[in-house]
Amino acid sequence: MAADETPRTLWHGRFDDAPAEALMRFTASIGFDARLWADDIEGSRAHVTMLGDSGILPPADVAAILGALEVVSAEFESAAFVFDAGDEDIHTAIERRVTEIAGAPGARIHTGRSRNDQVATALRLWSRREMRNLAAAIVSLVEVLETRAAGADATEPPVRLAGYTHLQHAQPVLLSHHLRAHAWGLLRDVDRITDALGRADVSPLGAGALAGSSLPLDPGRSADLLGFGAHFANSLDAVSDRDFVAEYLFDLAMVGVHLSRIGEEWVLWTSAEFGFATLDDSHATGSSMMPQKKNPDIAELARGKTGRLIGNLTGLLVVLKGLPLAYNRDLQEDKEALFDSVDQVGLAVRALSGMIAGTTFHPAAMAATADAEALVATDLAEFLVSGGTPFREAHAIVGALVREALATDRHLVDLVRVHPSFGDEGAVLFEPGAALARRRTPGASGPDVAVAQASRLAGAITEAKRRLE
Ligand code: ARG
Repeated sequence: MAADETPRTLWHGRFDDAPAEALMRFTASIGFDARLWADDIEGSRAHVTMLGDSGILPPADVAAILGALEVVSAEFESAAFVFDAGDEDIHTAIERRVTEIAGAPGARIHTGRSRNDQVATALRLWSRREMRNLAAAIVSLVEVLETRAAGADATEPPVRLAGYTHLQHAQPVLLSHHLRAHAWGLLRDVDRITDALGRADVSPLGAGALAGSSLPLDPGRSADLLGFGAHFANSLDAVSDRDFVAEYLFDLAMVGVHLSRIGEEWVLWTSAEFGFATLDDSHATGSSMMPQKKNPDIAELARGKTGRLIGNLTGLLVVLKGLPLAYNRDLQEDKEALFDSVDQVGLAVRALSGMIAGTTFHPAAMAATADAEALVATDLAEFLVSGGTPFREAHAIVGALVREALATDRHLVDLVRVHPSFGDEGAVLFEPGAALARRRTPGASGPDVAVAQASRLAGAITEAKRRLE
């Protein structure tokens, strides 16, 4: 291809030859960074305004460039923007178009700026908005969990089920307690995202390629215009820092891990073996072959997609490891990971919210597990402890009773009733719901303290929303 048929690169002045097609195909990021268009334009507006305020560009040029940016923005809004073969990334595309529209003043848009500070700025703007939206969606999921929890406590008696350790029956818990356990984890994720947003609230614009500028730029002014809390302190750090992306990727992977645990439980709970819950048709799938099937695909994908969320985090950390200062093209690899994690977590949170909201719980099947004899064992031991028996001794006494019940195929309650250390007082612990009702220490699983937890969770939800404002 002759040079005059090839789209001109931003650096054409220094080069005799046009870029090879393989280079363009390998290095271009336009295929995935076009979604930064609004943020790139916002960054350009601030930059150009600052150039005007600092006396670097005359007002007429500033007005011409801002006008052209308006046109470009409208073109993107209406999907009328036409990409050029030489548009290597969204920053190149927008500068090219601004120059086409505004002519000579347009060619001044990149004064004192590099794509290195430009892309770092655009990505911070994009992630500030998207991570905040995502955190709000997670809060909504928490509210769905709390609504279901409150509903489960509003029945008489409140819904109870076996709590598990090692997926073996352990001690009874309220369904509300179980659901709120997931809510607390997700609220910590929201907290982490909010913290990370605060740390990322620094504008890199004005750092130039790596060393600032000999022109009288005012990074504080552009930071203000973009609504950042601060501007960079070190230009090398400004263009090479991607820890904000890595931190978001960790937060998103952690959300994924939390969602995967909910997903796994929903898979179990909706199985014939558990029979704890039935999915609403709108949030279940069928089988192409087996007519009877109703499958929990949302729950499974919440579990499965977490693999790539963790992959996105580890992938970026490996990209960043050992990079010399300052900008390296490797950093372009930050975006697909972040976009993918934000997209997938956003989809998962919304799908799970609907799935949980529409699930029918089966309190009788749940209660049957909560009331299984074995779940009273700890209470029996604690009953003896209350009477002065050392816990280890009490544990052995009850353990022997459990062993005897299993060996003789008798009910534990019958052995307890005739045991000299227990009698009828011990047998009372086997009454449905009795063992659960005795769990009234702060944060425990019983009904007496559920109200306190509910109000504490409501307070945490309010606080999470306040921090996201
Ligand atoms: N598309 C690039 C990225 O995402 C923009 C920066 C390119 N800078 C450079 N000096 N080649 O990182």
